[in-house]
Amino acid sequence: MMQDLIISRLSSFPMFAGSPVGDLEALAAMLTFKQYPKGSFIISQNDRGSTMYLLVSGRVKVTLASAEGKELALNYLEAPSHFGEMSLVDAEPRSADVVAVTDVEVLALDAKDLSAAIEVQPRLALTLIATLSLRVRELIARVEDMAFHDAAHRVMRVLLNVATASYEARGIPVVEGLTHYEIATLAGTSRETASRVVSQLVRDGLVATKGRRIVVDLFAMRERLEHDV
Ligand code: CMP
Repeated sequence: MMQDLIISRLSSFPMFAGSPVGDLEALAAMLTFKQYPKGSFIISQNDRGSTMYLLVSGRVKVTLASAEGKELALNYLEAPSHFGEMSLVDAEPRSADVVAVTDVEVLALDAKDLSAAIEVQPRLALTLIATLSLRVRELIARVEDMAFHDAAHRVMRVLLNVATASYEARGIPVVEGLTHYEIATLAGTSRETASRVVSQLVRDGLVATKGRRIVVDLFAMRERLEHDV
């Protein structure tokens, strides 16, 4: 029963789609299904951990907190995706907190089973490498923005990135489910600054707000960012 549930969840991951049933059964035997309510810390920064997680439903945020309680969000991840792979491969403490933003379902894989899982489905290794590479690229863009641009530019970049991802996934260039505070933590600025920038962008006609949804004119926003150096 649980095995069937795990197999059906596994098939929604591009890296496992099309795998023979026997392979999915072998993988399912290595995975544990777990549920976390909204607000739970699935991973805490600096802890020792040897489990990685396949996110099968819900949304998590990857985040850092300073000693004074300031927050810097590194990323929001939606299913299907994965996290917790870094400590699994380098045996260092956890690099960040991972917190459930909604109720979340995951499949947990223990370090001792990673090699066996890769033998069953080698695409797992390639996907882990590709994701690490993408995250490094995103961090390079972030460092560039921190070094060369002001907070307003960074807020616009967050809106553009999130709306572009939404356009690619769902065909609508919208930022939704993120509060101004959450946008601010992604941009490395205060909530007041994020709200001020959003209001100015509404006045300039680059975004339109509807309740908690921010619809972004992707073309105009890209133009603005290119000329705002
Ligand atoms: P690990 O260090 O084991 O635990 C925290 C996890 O957060 C880490 O593995 C990655 O899976 C994830 N993580 C760390 N930095 C980022 C980032 N910049 N973007 C997305 N996920 C990240």
